[in-house]
Amino acid sequence: MPDLIAKAAALPLHSRTPLEWGRAVLADPISLLADHAFLEKKAAQNAMELLTRWPGEWLPGWVETMTGIARDEAAHLSQVVRLLTRRGGRLGRTHANPYASQLRALVRLGSHDEIIDRLFASALIELRSCERFSVLATCAAQIEGAEDLAALYNALFSSEMGHYKVFLKAAHRTAGGGVRRKLASVPVESRWQEMLAAEARILAAQPVGPRVHSGVPATSSSC
Ligand SMILES: [Fe+2]
Ligand SMILES: [Fe+2]
Repeated sequence: MPDLIAKAAALPLHSRTPLEWGRAVLADPISLLADHAFLEKKAAQNAMELLTRWPGEWLPGWVETMTGIARDEAAHLSQVVRLLTRRGGRLGRTHANPYASQLRALVRLGSHDEIIDRLFASALIELRSCERFSVLATCAAQIEGAEDLAALYNALFSSEMGHYKVFLKAAHRTAGGGVRRKLASVPVESRWQEMLAAEARILAAQPVGPRVHSGVPATSSSC
């Protein structure tokens, strides 16, 4: 699926995932899917948290948009668990995602810009997931018996791309218009660039392993 790789290359990330990472994590599909399932669950929860914390209709269609994302993520969770179960795995009770935790730590809590940071952090997770799914789709397509995984990652690429755009647009609209126009304390584009750079640093520091947001093996080549 070279077209996905080409699409991912156009994303504004500050680092790129080599295909070797995809081959390495796909060697343990059960662990990868178990991690992935938690990410989808967390993504659904995140959309609901955003609604709970900022319930107002301060952006047109805000409630419909967040509930739509939560619905998409719940459907993704179901799809991932189906493939996990098919392979003999099951959803565990606990899960840690230091990558997402460290991204969230960038959010300036209690500030008027907190919602913008939260939207940017959400956009970054979607953006990186998109890029990782392009690698996974490409590598899974070359593995016998992993056709279902290739189809999953291919479909999720498009969905998460849509979510990334929604969160990014919401952040810019929040900063630049509507009732919160006066609340943003830094230029929104500068903040986005800062967070893009931080995301690449955070990802590079993650340990390797069969997880969607894991670090990259030391030596990298093609898939
Ligand atoms: Fe998702
Ligand atoms: Fe998403």
